[in-house]
Amino acid sequence: MAEPEKKKMSVAEMVAAARKADSGKSAEAPSEPAAESSAPEAAAPTAAPAAKPAAKPAAAGGAKMSVAEMLAAARAEKAPGAAAPKPAAAKPVAAEKPAPAAKPAAAKAAPKAPAAPTAPKDTGSILSETRSGAKPGPMSKAEAALKAPAAKPAAKEKPRAVVPPMPAKPDYAKPKPKVTVDESRRNFLTDVMLGSFLGIGFVSMGVTFGLWTLGTARFMFPNVLTEPPSKFKVGFPSNFAPGQVETKFIPQYGVWVVNYEYNGKSEIYALRSVCTHLGCTPNWLEGEQKFKCPCHGSGFYKDGINFEGPAPRPLERYAIRLADDGQLEIDKSKIFQEEIGQWSDPASFVAV
Ligand code: FES
Repeated sequence: MAEPEKKKMSVAEMVAAARKADSGKSAEAPSEPAAESSAPEAAAPTAAPAAKPAAKPAAAGGAKMSVAEMLAAARAEKAPGAAAPKPAAAKPVAAEKPAPAAKPAAAKAAPKAPAAPTAPKDTGSILSETRSGAKPGPMSKAEAALKAPAAKPAAKEKPRAVVPPMPAKPDYAKPKPKVTVDESRRNFLTDVMLGSFLGIGFVSMGVTFGLWTLGTARFMFPNVLTEPPSKFKVGFPSNFAPGQVETKFIPQYGVWVVNYEYNGKSEIYALRSVCTHLGCTPNWLEGEQKFKCPCHGSGFYKDGINFEGPAPRPLERYAIRLADDGQLEIDKSKIFQEEIGQWSDPASFVAV
């Protein structure tokens, strides 16, 4: 029964058919190894030529092409120059089945294939490599695109060469910092102005000038008076017993508060603690009941009248009065002298 003549298949179709035959049907599996086993025989130029013509016409006469035949036909199409006429020569030979001359021509084309730029391999080895995945066979652009990203990371994982560190530079080989104008001025100030005798002289002159300026400014202002107030209270009249001389106000106010008699009248008065000789401060001598000046020996009675020494006149009195709260208030701004009759002034005593 005559088989329908096959159409000319493109390379992609041939490869797809070969893959389908390899991966798929179990019924065809035993036939492909048989075909593949015959492929080396057809490709081998030294094989017996008598058996080959019998097998080749059967394949070329329109029967189902084996994988080896498909790959051979694909190589013949790919081969430049001489590959193109070979299929054309094969077809007529196939039509004229008894003509064995076509087969040697096709058989001769097989040895020419290894002369191609690619490495010469037989069909069995190509298929075995394709199945094992060691060497990818022809594939479509989509398959190549799918496999391409997997190959890129492998290229990135190349081990990097370990570069040893550079030796440290010595100090003389290091770049020196550039000295700017400001740094040079700073060095001048620190080294010359402050670190030498000239600098010390300038600093001393500056300090002296500052102190002189402060002194001049202080001279322009008057001194502040630090004297205690002229009026002060010493307590109630009942606090002073008759004949008592209170000396506790001497350190702060310089005054004795005395409760004694003057001209036969009991009164409280305030004696100024200043000697009428040359201004020393007399002491109250309780045992001798007198005021005694330590400077020249002047003595004063309890009422302030001088009776010995160089003092020319009695002690002086301060003004004294009863304040609104009933206490005795002394005013040191007013002085009363006995020799001119001022002790009779009521402002110079408080009657008790
Ligand atoms: Fe008091 Fe001379 S100062 S006796």
